[in-house]
Amino acid sequence: MKALILFSSRDGQTREIAAYIANEIKAQQACDVINILHADAVDWAQYDRVLIGASIRYGKFHPAVAKFIKTHLQALQQRASGFFCVNLTARKPEKRSPQTNAYTRKFLQQSPWQPDYCAVFAGALRYPRYRWFDRVMIQLIMRMTGGETDSRKEVEYTDWQQVSRFAREFVQYPVKSA
Ligand SMILES: Cc1cc2nc3c(=O)[nH]c(=O)nc-3n(C[C@H](O)[C@H](O)[C@H](O)COP(=O)(O)O)c2cc1C
Repeated sequence: MKALILFSSRDGQTREIAAYIANEIKAQQACDVINILHADAVDWAQYDRVLIGASIRYGKFHPAVAKFIKTHLQALQQRASGFFCVNLTARKPEKRSPQTNAYTRKFLQQSPWQPDYCAVFAGALRYPRYRWFDRVMIQLIMRMTGGETDSRKEVEYTDWQQVSRFAREFVQYPVKSA
């Protein structure tokens, strides 16, 4: 049986994190990585472990995440499962756990699916790649929260050691019997 990682990413950071986790998992178990926008026809029979990773934009996940969870709830519940959230609030270490990160805490409170294993990762700030409106908005948020405001900068806050630890623990999580 294989592991499956589904990701929801707008600018690529969550996709990169998903690929990194897949590489770590592959030391123990075969692993596929699929964009959640193109995951309508998952062949669940192949997988005993599933991980969903999603980023935050203007306080929200992409609607495809909730839709996928609703459609595939039973398959998710029957497998060893994990969830990770990527956002910039988590650049502050005290906001980098499922309990202390407001987006993740709210997600877990509202989700019909309760993943076995959860993490919050800091994402990336890439001003030069954003459209004018997004750049101005992010700059405003960063000014209000004491973050980087230089719009020429690209900063990656992701702690890759944290990602690696999560991957190694997730792949150890016992699979569920049918
Ligand atoms: C337009 C825009 C809005 C964002 N809104 C939020 C937000 O509300 N809260 C937050 O913590 N991070 C926010 N972020 C930061 C992203 O979550 C971060 O850049 C993350 O790395 C994006 O991951 P992705 O490239 O996989 O989409 C925002 C980023 C952009 C570009």
